[in-house]
Formats: sequence, structure tokens, C-alpha cells
Amino acid sequence: MTGPVPQPTLRTSRLRLRPLRAADAAAIVTLAGDARVSRWLLTVPHPYPAELATSWIARTHDEWRAGTAVTWAIVEDGALVGAISLRLVARHDHAELGYWLGVPAWGRGLATEAARAVIGHAFRVLGLVRVFAQHLGGNPASGRVLVKVGMAPEGVRRRHVRKRGRYHDAHQYAVLREDWRPRAAPRPRPRR
Ligand SMILES: CC(C)(COP(=O)(O)OP(=O)(O)OC[C@H]1O[C@@H](n2cnc3c(N)ncnc32)[C@H](O)[C@@H]1OP(=O)(O)O)[C@@H](O)C(=O)NCCC(=O)NCCS
Repeated sequence: MTGPVPQPTLRTSRLRLRPLRAADAAAIVTLAGDARVSRWLLTVPHPYPAELATSWIARTHDEWRAGTAVTWAIVEDGALVGAISLRLVARHDHAELGYWLGVPAWGRGLATEAARAVIGHAFRVLGLVRVFAQHLGGNPASGRVLVKVGMAPEGVRRRHVRKRGRYHDAHQYAVLREDWRPRAAPRPRPRR
């Protein structure tokens, strides 16, 4: 369900998840280029040059056509507030979920809402069997999102990735289709 057909737009109670547009570049530069966001994203540099945002937007369209990834703008009240994607591995019927929100949108459950919609799409429409995700050590907010959407922790790959010359642990999470509950009750937050 990727390729020549148009990429679908998904709707949640507060959000519209739609394909990226060339006109989104400026908002992406501002929001994803913010050091508080880019520090957690392996492929987003800081500062974030405008031409990189433009080429990324074009690449998301190529990836949709090729069936290798689906990326949506996360839109609230008509404004882009973040992005979310599934990196598809057709051979294994699985995908990696990734997302970011601009700082002004943090803390209102929007990442969780967007991720729920995308995982539902992955299982119901794309027919995947597994959706997984990882976050860097020191980013518990992202781990909390993944648990709230119903993913289970699968361990830590120690010093698995390098960003800006430093090695980071990569915390692994996943959910299988048979375990997916569209409105999974959040698991209790671990005591800190
Ligand atoms: C991670 C991110 C997507 C979260 O978005 P969000 O919309 O604020 O997330 P939600 O509101 O849905 O949920 C965040 C949860 O993390 C919790 N949280 C926030 N900061 C935390 C911290 N320092 N330690 C532990 N939990 C934290 C929140 O309390 C909330 O959990 P709760 O609902 O149980 O209270 C957003 O902060 C972001 O884009 N960060 C930068 C980029 C990034 O990290 N992307 C993910 C890469 S793997």
C-alpha cells in the first residue's frame, strides 16, 4: 500500500498526519534544527541548513514511491508541529518508527497520539507484523512515548550509535501485531 497510489493522510482527535510539502521546509528548519530536538535525532544536524530540509522533503516522496518509508508531517490547527515516519523492510514485514516534535508542542501527549495512529496504520493497512523503535540513552521522554503506545522494551544496545563524535546507547522497543491494542492503557510510569 505504498508506491504509485497517493500517500494517505491520517487523522486523530487533535492532529492531521499528511505528506510533507515543499512549503514545510522553513518550519522544519526552525523546529527540528532546534538543538533540544536535533540532539536526539541521528540524522538531523545542528544547525540545520534549509537546503537539507528541502532535499529531505523530496526524499520522503521518493521513499514513498519506492516503498521504503512513509513520512508524515504532524499538523495541529493547520501548522506543522513535527514529523513521524515508518522505515519499511518489506522482506521482514516490519518497520522502524521515528518521530520528533518541535519544543512548543511538547508535553501534551501529541507524540503519543501521532504514534498510535501510525502504528495502527502499520498493522491494519500496511499489514506489518512488527513495529520497532529506538531512542538514545538520556531521552526518557521518548521511551515513555513508546511504552504509552504499547511497545515493550527489548533491551539496550550499548554504545550502538555515534552522534557528533560520541557513542550512545540505543534503547530498543517493539510491538507485535497480535499484541497491538489501539487504545492501550498506559503502563504505570516506573518509579524514579
Ligand atoms: C520525545 C518527544 C517526541 C515527546 O513528545 P511529547 O508530545 O512531549 O510526548 P508525550 O506528551 O506524548 O509523552 C511524553 C511522556 O514523557 C514524559 N517525560 C517527559 N520528560 C521526561 C523525563 N525527563 N523523564 C521521564 N519522562 C519524561 C512525560 O511526562 C510524558 O509521560 P506521561 O504522559 O506518562 O506523563 C519530544 O520530546 C521530542 O520530539 N523530543 C526531541 C526529539 C526526539 O527525542 N525524538 C524521538 C527520538 S527517538
